[in-house]
Amino acid sequence: MMMLKTGQLIKHKDERTEKDEYTMRLIEIEELRDVVELQKYVYEQLPNKQVLYMDSYEEMFDDMKQGAKVIGVFNNDGELIAYRYVGFPGNTEKNLGIDIKIPRKELINVAHLETTVVHPEYRGNSLQSLTLQQAIPMVKDFGYNHLLCTVSPQNIYSLYNIMKNGLRIKALKKKYGSDKDGKDGMWRFILHRNLNPRSVKRPSELISTPIENLEHQGKLIDKGYVGLWLFRESKILNYVRFEDEVAFS
Ligand SMILES: CC(C)(COP(=O)(O)OP(=O)(O)OC[C@H]1O[C@@H](n2cnc3c(N)ncnc32)[C@H](O)[C@@H]1OP(=O)(O)O)[C@@H](O)C(=O)NCCC(=O)NCCS
Repeated sequence: MMMLKTGQLIKHKDERTEKDEYTMRLIEIEELRDVVELQKYVYEQLPNKQVLYMDSYEEMFDDMKQGAKVIGVFNNDGELIAYRYVGFPGNTEKNLGIDIKIPRKELINVAHLETTVVHPEYRGNSLQSLTLQQAIPMVKDFGYNHLLCTVSPQNIYSLYNIMKNGLRIKALKKKYGSDKDGKDGMWRFILHRNLNPRSVKRPSELISTPIENLEHQGKLIDKGYVGLWLFRESKILNYVRFEDEVAFS
């Protein structure tokens, strides 16, 4: 059992707050039912179901057999209160690197941040960020250098945490649809961070836009802008264009 981190927690229950502690470790495949159950519970509580695309037990089971990892966070009573699921899509159609036009030969170096959830009573302890900060060195150790994920434009909490950890918006499109062109899917930002950047680029132009203006953002991305920073309270996103288009960073 691979222990990653321990720490203090604040639990919110019926207007009251209590102190608790957590242990973060990798989940064993035998514990996957608990993961799917927590996901289901969190989904049921969500006021806006658009923000979370659920993974089935079977999908996660197959993925873990192929090497996917799930970082779990447990409270003092040993209950699972949060998790982060990290997948390695390889050279398959679901590789998000294709959406942002990563060179074909680099697709095998892509790691996906799949679903992450925190039990409502334990929100506000930065568990999304803390599990991400464990996932980054882990995927680097495994030899992956492109980190990608999707986030709904309506999921301000998740988007803020993901961008705070250095991932940038590189595409905006409908995902998880059933028809071939994906038009019946849900709007998603596709975010990316190169974990081994070969150059530091200087931003040259900056444009701010309200997060709900998807049309404007689509046009900015087409012109080569990337989303760099989100102001959580005002829901304003900063897009920048870089001076030189050198290595894919
Ligand atoms: C996104 C999510 C994982 C973030 O949880 P977290 O790591 O506990 O969030 P943070 O610690 O960054 O919270 C920062 C603040 O936002 C609040 N917050 C976080 N998520 C919130 C939510 N879904 N609704 C309302 N407020 C929320 C926290 O209470 C905290 O408030 P405070 O600063 O007043 O204490 C969590 O909201 C969640 O499980 N959402 C549902 C599933 C989901 O959308 N997952 C991401 C897509 S896969």
